[in-house]
Amino acid sequence: MTDIRFDAGAMSFILSAMPGAPPRCVYWGKRLSARVTPADIALLTTMQGAHGGETTPIAASLALEPGLGLMTPPGLLAHRDGRCWASLLRVESAEQTGNSAVIRCSDAATQIGLDYQLRCDPLSGVLTISAVLTNRGGDVLTVDTLATACLPVPAAMTDIIGFSGRWADEFRRTRLKRFAGGYVRENRRGRTSQDSFPAVILCEAGASEQAGQAYGLHLAWSGNHCVRVDTLNDGRVFASFGVLALPGELRLVPGARFACPPIVAAFSATGLSALSRAFHDHVRTALVRPAVRARPRPVHYNSWEAVYFGHDMPRLMALADRAAAVGVERFVLDDGWFGARRSDRAGLGDWVVSDAVYPQGLGPLVEHVTGLGMEMGLWFEPEMVNPDSDLFRAHPEWVLRAEGVDQVPFRNQYALDIARPEVADYLFEKIDAILGAHPIGYIKWDMNRDLNHPGGPDGRPRALEQVTALYALIDRIRQAHPGVEIESCSSGGARADMGVLAHTDRVWTSDSNDAIDRQAIQRGASMFLPLMLLGAHVGPGICHITGRSLSMAMRAGTAIMGHMGAELNLLEETEANLAELARAIALYKRLRPLIHGGDQYRLDTPDFLYAHGVVAPDRCHALFSVACLTGHATTLPPAVAFDGLAPDRDYRLRLVWPAPWHSVTAPGIVEALDLTGQGHVVRGEALMTVGVQLPLALPQTVLLFELEPA
Ligand code: DGJ
Repeated sequence: MTDIRFDAGAMSFILSAMPGAPPRCVYWGKRLSARVTPADIALLTTMQGAHGGETTPIAASLALEPGLGLMTPPGLLAHRDGRCWASLLRVESAEQTGNSAVIRCSDAATQIGLDYQLRCDPLSGVLTISAVLTNRGGDVLTVDTLATACLPVPAAMTDIIGFSGRWADEFRRTRLKRFAGGYVRENRRGRTSQDSFPAVILCEAGASEQAGQAYGLHLAWSGNHCVRVDTLNDGRVFASFGVLALPGELRLVPGARFACPPIVAAFSATGLSALSRAFHDHVRTALVRPAVRARPRPVHYNSWEAVYFGHDMPRLMALADRAAAVGVERFVLDDGWFGARRSDRAGLGDWVVSDAVYPQGLGPLVEHVTGLGMEMGLWFEPEMVNPDSDLFRAHPEWVLRAEGVDQVPFRNQYALDIARPEVADYLFEKIDAILGAHPIGYIKWDMNRDLNHPGGPDGRPRALEQVTALYALIDRIRQAHPGVEIESCSSGGARADMGVLAHTDRVWTSDSNDAIDRQAIQRGASMFLPLMLLGAHVGPGICHITGRSLSMAMRAGTAIMGHMGAELNLLEETEANLAELARAIALYKRLRPLIHGGDQYRLDTPDFLYAHGVVAPDRCHALFSVACLTGHATTLPPAVAFDGLAPDRDYRLRLVWPAPWHSVTAPGIVEALDLTGQGHVVRGEALMTVGVQLPLALPQTVLLFELEPA
């Protein structure tokens, strides 16, 4: 086999894997017919030597290793105490079986093996590339740089969309012009991070949600990473994604292997929204467990913003009563139920129910919750310990630390060295005991500090091992309790990636429940993750984090477009607000098969509007959300044209949220088309071209339009 080729979804991917030569991606882009052969492509992409450079051009490889002699930042830098650094990996064998391929490469001179595994989803065309590096030599191999792969991207992709953010404001997108040299995002936080989500979109200058070519790449990994886009001075562009190894962290003894986390990549010829749909399909089919996919995603109630650390059984029971009354299906008891955890200063690590707060244990609360017909969920932060805890007093040696430097203060807690078997066993036994004692169907798995000094007992850094140990611990718990769903939370959305989603069932998208911020956060997260996995809660009327006051209609309308929950003090809400929340929950329950199973279409709109929708796979049913974030410069808002509908089908258009609707001035389109009553039957073609004039709405209003078969 000399060529690996995938033609799927919107893309073709062709890799030359000639035995004895380095593996080389020769084409990745718009889908080609079988008539275009790798030989045609090789001829059409012939390069030549340029003045002032190498006499003959140097072809790239998947690893961009130094032995090539190509003057670009390498994807692989390994050495044996300063020697054997010029690795050059050649294909030993390559085999494609349908949508998968394995390419085995080695370098006899430096005694390295590097095996690639490729898989292409036949429908979405999403490509997953992973790699395993092996030390085939007789002494230690130190690896300084290790990208899973370096993929070429056409120079026509002039724009880079990267991700930044902070606590309570995750998934911000920054678009910039690609430039000569390297665009580099290094994450050293030991978790996925809020400021450097491991993904990049490379697109044409004019690409938007609904038009243009775009390449999306994501590293499915929840720890330190290096994501880079390098523009060479000969014009070639490479996107390299891999782990980031701290000094001496990747030392492979003879025979040892390191499994690089997968790169998940997609191409779209029709805009960013189509790119996201490919990722969503991939995540839903390849990562979400079938049992989770099959079950309607239950409406959550989370206790955090209602009680924080003030756990009190009668109050929690009263909250559960109210939650059940508005339609909640899962009651999640957040931080504060265990040990001496009456604040964030003590008790973390002591996973026993607090006698002080729950003198009869958790049983009465769990029975109350389940008696109301809800499932019980529980918060854990297994990887952490407060110094003021029985666990730390017994095992101060169990924490990650670096010799000779103080721990960096961070939420009064240290990180446990969970790669140690005895630490993992302790955590497993504690969690297993709680899950065994009560009918608990859900874990919110939190992680609230960076790993500033992730040193192990031998003094060496082990931030990478911490991630694989985390995945292993979660898997062990899932194996023992397969019916329990697990949410990945990390101070909000600091661990929301496809690596952890291979082991968990939902992400807590952000600690900000401010619906205006949430519109942007959820839109950003939806670039790579499907709505069914994005925890979205109705927060308090005055947001605890931003201080912004928002209507229940805005808060609930925003939470509907995700995995809905509520996280506010229901005991303080007015009857009117509770009734409105109950209506929103009922609407979510009716529409969740569509919201979670449909294809998402984000729309191009002016900045003051965020519009997107979900369309059922058979295109019979759709729901579009239009959020008016601020006021507009013109007296009236514009029309919005939907996307993804069947042009030749008739749809009944109705405005289903806010309910009831109050017109600012009347009559308008709502009255003319009876949008809150029988609705109006319109052709899909008209809805996607003429669009729908938006009714005049107050700023900070979200409108939900439903389209049903006429
Ligand atoms: C951070 C999480 O993001 C919050 O939702 C909450 O669970 C707190 N931790 C609890 O300490």
